[in-house]
Amino acid sequence: MADGGETRRPPVVAVDGPAGAGKSTVCREVARRCGLTYLDTGALYRAIGYTALQRGIDPLDDHAMEALCQGLDIEVATAADGTTRVVVDGEDVTTHLRTPEVSLSASRVSARPPVRARLLDLQRRAAARGGVIVDGRDIGTVVLPDADLKIFLTASPEERARRRHQELAAKGDPATYEATLADVIARDAADSGRAIAPLKAAADAVTMDTSDTPFEQVVTRLCARIAAA
Ligand code: DC
Repeated sequence: MADGGETRRPPVVAVDGPAGAGKSTVCREVARRCGLTYLDTGALYRAIGYTALQRGIDPLDDHAMEALCQGLDIEVATAADGTTRVVVDGEDVTTHLRTPEVSLSASRVSARPPVRARLLDLQRRAAARGGVIVDGRDIGTVVLPDADLKIFLTASPEERARRRHQELAAKGDPATYEATLADVIARDAADSGRAIAPLKAAADAVTMDTSDTPFEQVVTRLCARIAAA
């Protein structure tokens, strides 16, 4: 690390990009190799999406969402395998966060102002000591605009749909490639088109396209950038 001799805070790395670009797999591996803590901020939105579903709260009802968010005790931790664990009101909800219902609810709640306001402070506190790699949609633009390194990790919609389709097929899901591609495009539009904290690359972010780059090369390049940051 180029620090001119004085002791510097360990780096803060912000990684944004669309769903399916491989952010979480890449970040977990980079964190392991570079000695950083990985924070998956999508898990926080998913935890609120899950809780809203459990409690029958309509994400469009700002009043009810505000009350929900204010009353929730949310703790975030990193497990030994690098995954982000979320504890809501004392219950570890991590294993409930990856269902299609929770994905949809997370996407809905993530567009609501009270939710983003509630999670902003939590994310900043989690990153305050440095030595972190944080992935999401608005990390370099809104949450951590002073990050030491900002990466926009992306891949073409077709490649992301291909990967997702493969994952679904492996689980026995009969969704076609065309339907999966339509989903990817719709999610991109929802994430990029929302009024609040839309998905976009920060002006000072380095864009890395993973469409044709093998995983190992993406990880090595990112580690090299962190070492040079
Ligand atoms: O990355 P993911 O699929 O786990 O994210 C779940 C949802 O949360 C997704 O709809 C995008 C949203 N999200 C967000 O708006 N801002 C973030 N920093 C992270 C996720």
